[in-house]
Amino acid sequence: MKYLMNTFSTIAILAIFSLYASCTSEPPKEPTDLTQEVIIPKPVSVTASGGAFTLTETTKIFTQSDGEELDQIARHLSNYLSPATGFDLPVESAGSESDDGHILLQLNDSDTELGEEGYELNITEDALTLAAQQPAGLFRGLQTIRQLLPSGIEKDSLQEMSWKIATGTIRDYPMYEYRGAMLDVARHFFQVDDVKRYIDLIAYYKLNHLHLHLSDDQGWRIEIKSWPKLAEYGGSTQVGGEGGGHYTQEEYTDLVQYAQDRFITIVPEIDMPGHTNAALTSYPELNCSGKAAELYTGIEVGFSTLCTDSEVTYQFVDDVIGELATLTPGPYIHIGGDESHATPMEDYIPFVNRAQEIVLKHGKQVFGWDEIANAELVDNAVVQYWAEAENATKAIEQGGKVIMSPATKTYLDMQYDSTTELGLHWAAYIEVDSAYIWEPTNMVAGVDREHILGIEAPLWSETVTNMDEIEYMAFPRLIGIAEIAWTSPVDRQWEDYRTRLGQHAPYLKALEIDYYASDLVDWKSYE
Ligand code: ACM
Repeated sequence: MKYLMNTFSTIAILAIFSLYASCTSEPPKEPTDLTQEVIIPKPVSVTASGGAFTLTETTKIFTQSDGEELDQIARHLSNYLSPATGFDLPVESAGSESDDGHILLQLNDSDTELGEEGYELNITEDALTLAAQQPAGLFRGLQTIRQLLPSGIEKDSLQEMSWKIATGTIRDYPMYEYRGAMLDVARHFFQVDDVKRYIDLIAYYKLNHLHLHLSDDQGWRIEIKSWPKLAEYGGSTQVGGEGGGHYTQEEYTDLVQYAQDRFITIVPEIDMPGHTNAALTSYPELNCSGKAAELYTGIEVGFSTLCTDSEVTYQFVDDVIGELATLTPGPYIHIGGDESHATPMEDYIPFVNRAQEIVLKHGKQVFGWDEIANAELVDNAVVQYWAEAENATKAIEQGGKVIMSPATKTYLDMQYDSTTELGLHWAAYIEVDSAYIWEPTNMVAGVDREHILGIEAPLWSETVTNMDEIEYMAFPRLIGIAEIAWTSPVDRQWEDYRTRLGQHAPYLKALEIDYYASDLVDWKSYE
């Protein structure tokens, strides 16, 4: 019996050891074939030349011309690479390049194919040269450099390893000009640092817009100086009743700047005329009854409306949009317009028409959920398709552009399957394959490539209360949606993506992303 026990323990120990060995001790490969490297979103073209560039303690980052913007991008690169390598990676202007191992960042006006956000990365054994037509292209290219280095590069402590990148050339530019994520900070409030982390994570996958859903029935999240009770009272709670909060204008400006430094445009949304209970609690005069509504901490929708035939309402909209426009360097103000079930259509249409004029008066472009296409769209309006195909059709018939956010594919708060504890499933269960296997131009008949400005993945926060939960619902689905927005459909196949996503896992771990490890993906578990 004792002998048997020993045999069992030996077998058990061996089994555990071999499992451990297969999971953890496979050495990182020496990169020599650039075409085999995993880059998500997948680039336009990659050619390999068979060698390796090595980042060392003497590597410097040179900028080809003076200028604050180029300098700032170079410092981003230095900051990305310094913690794990322990190298200084000083930023200098070009002219004094040493022979070995330098990095050069350059702007090249003549390479028009690259557009606003494309880049070309040329890697030889002696130098890594990143060129772009515009600074945003250089910033997108930095994200590719991060993914070409070993995953340890994302750790914030010193890693003892060699830092090699396979040689060759990558040319890359995006399919869609608008590639976005949305965070609902109204149902649950998220602090500035959480939003900054989300910005960092979406920047890593080359997204360029963050839509902030700043108001809803459960909370008003942005200080409006001319209507101070909106944030003070209307922002004092959230779903479930604990917590709440709002951004002061200074905090919001800091967030906008943080995003802008990463070539991400914030799209602020004030949802109206429905989804307005938080405003209706703060100012009785916004209610047709003249009586303030009660704070709301549940998750029902469609019960609130601004009083659309009262002039005070339009003064309110004008003041709020005016202050928001002043805080917003980006082109868009999102006026919501979804699920206004408590506003009769004959009131909804004139309200949306006036709200659009107010946005124009403040020098901004109108953005709204697909229902706003029932009104008369102003020039350059952007309509966000989430539910009703007919509304997307009405939008393009009026000359509007469409953002594709089909709830059945892009809503990151939908559960992965029936066992997912967080999230909802009113639109669909969305597994990792389902979030990837769809084509924006096939969603609504007649809504074609030329009508589609881009793609956005919204994360509603009725059930999502903290950063770990945000990450669990967003990742990995947001990565696939980022690829749909960046990469041509001819280069997107689920089987290929599934393999690349699995191989990308060490980077998710190094970035400490709390992702959902779907059974559909063979997650690589060694570093
Ligand atoms: C929405 O999901 N109500 C836009």
